[in-house]
Amino acid sequence: MAAVSAAIGRFSLEQFGLWSLALAAALLLLALCLLRGRTRRPGEPPLIKGWLPYFGVVLELRKDPLRFMKTLQKQHGDTFTVLLGGKYITFILDPFQYQLVIKNQKQLSFRVFSDELVGKAFSISQLQKNHDMNDELHLCYQFLQGKSLDILLESMMQNLKQVFESQLLKTTSWDTVQLYTFCSSIIFDITFTTIYGKFLVCDNNKFINELRDDFLKFDDNFTYLVSDIPIELLGNIKSIRKKIIKCLSSENLAKMQGWSEILQRRQDVLEKYYVHEDLEIGAHHLGFLWASVANTIPAMFWAMYYLLWHPEAMAAVRDEIDRLLQSTGQKKGSGFPIYLTREQLDSLICLESTIFEALRLSSYSTTIRFVEEDLTLSAETGDFCVRKGDLLAVFPPIFHGDPEIFEAPEEFRYDRFVEDGKKKTTFFKRGKKLKCYLMPFGTGTTKCPGRFFAIMEIKQLLVILLTYFDLEIIDDKPIGIDYRRMLFGIQYPDSDVLFRYKVKS
Ligand code: HEM
Repeated sequence: MAAVSAAIGRFSLEQFGLWSLALAAALLLLALCLLRGRTRRPGEPPLIKGWLPYFGVVLELRKDPLRFMKTLQKQHGDTFTVLLGGKYITFILDPFQYQLVIKNQKQLSFRVFSDELVGKAFSISQLQKNHDMNDELHLCYQFLQGKSLDILLESMMQNLKQVFESQLLKTTSWDTVQLYTFCSSIIFDITFTTIYGKFLVCDNNKFINELRDDFLKFDDNFTYLVSDIPIELLGNIKSIRKKIIKCLSSENLAKMQGWSEILQRRQDVLEKYYVHEDLEIGAHHLGFLWASVANTIPAMFWAMYYLLWHPEAMAAVRDEIDRLLQSTGQKKGSGFPIYLTREQLDSLICLESTIFEALRLSSYSTTIRFVEEDLTLSAETGDFCVRKGDLLAVFPPIFHGDPEIFEAPEEFRYDRFVEDGKKKTTFFKRGKKLKCYLMPFGTGTTKCPGRFFAIMEIKQLLVILLTYFDLEIIDDKPIGIDYRRMLFGIQYPDSDVLFRYKVKS
């Protein structure tokens, strides 16, 4: 009997499978025809559909986004619409038109776009439906600023101290490692421990190492996850994601000690809207964990890479740190006496400029909005229309690489954001001062709430590395950018690079 029902089940499943395949193929074909069939309406920007149905210009963009965008800019001007992975996206390239996104917040929604994205990437379904929860979770971002940030930074310094005292200060001879692997390990460990605390009931190092390895595999597939490709086609990513979500479940987090204020507040909100055991709580924590490390890791890599490649930058930054340590009465040398407040870290403008310059050269963070209704946008250069259901995108790499704004933009200049010994904040285009001159963290009300945390983390880490260690690059091959993440944040390097470090004698 069981065999018969299994056979019936298999038969109907197979039949169902064939039917659904046929239906999916028909729907895809229909979608392809509809998407291919779109024509430009009067008032709309030029339309570029590419040669691939549905996918549009995805291959050209992925190969070298900046070069491709510059080519389109030359051909079509500063505003145009492209077909990309089934979506029509209107790109705005003129930095003076970025304000349009901020001015039309009601019709150009960040939420619709980001809720769909987190739904796909982290399997969170409630955000789209539950606006109150969404609002309350957003309110928690205040705990990444002000006094709460000071507390986070103190805890971060303690965690750094433990990592370096126990592991790195033992290294009296040269130790050779891959730079990206080094940065991802240290940024993941420090960020995770600072926000989530430590596992007390089992080996915390083993737990973090395993979580980090799974996380990096998950992050590697991020652009596929947010595309329309079913997760089932992405190898074992679905099971890896499930494993991470379980690691971050309420039950597991209850075994961690040293929760940050922001984690506590987020958990309180989540437990108000879900039952304690609901695994979607873990999915929210995965989303936040991703936001807090996925960009900081490559940002740390590029900052260190450029410092290692540019001895004059390394010397200037070391000198600035030495002067600060002397003026605050902190001797470098034996033990681990360094403690810098947020204000003191903030005063390291040469170090900050180095980090900003690394971000300028590696950031492809694109501000994307969902168009809620047909809309006419009034720009200085003329009005243009955008269609309901499309996306609107501001693409900063264009002006990050604009020679009119940044002289010799392809060069790394560590002091580009320093002027007369102060932070340089004035940059011009067409003789006019730019409101936004560097946008790795987005813009407007949705600007990254973790930006101060990220910059301070990279600064703290570099202060320790440059103060206590001799550092040398070993591979002398130049590294390029891997554009796998295309429009999302800081890009990965296209290969890793060897460097060596040893405690200063
Ligand atoms: C170099 C490191 C980082 C970069 C380049 C970066 C960049 C960004 C960007 C571009 C956005 C989207 C903004 C928009 O579309 O308007 C964003 C959002 C976000 N970031 Fe960051 N980020 C970094 C580090 C962090 C850190 C360390 C945290 C947390 C501790 C964090 C938390 C978040 C959160 C929670 C959001 C979503 C905000 C929302 O939903 O409104 N980020 N980040």
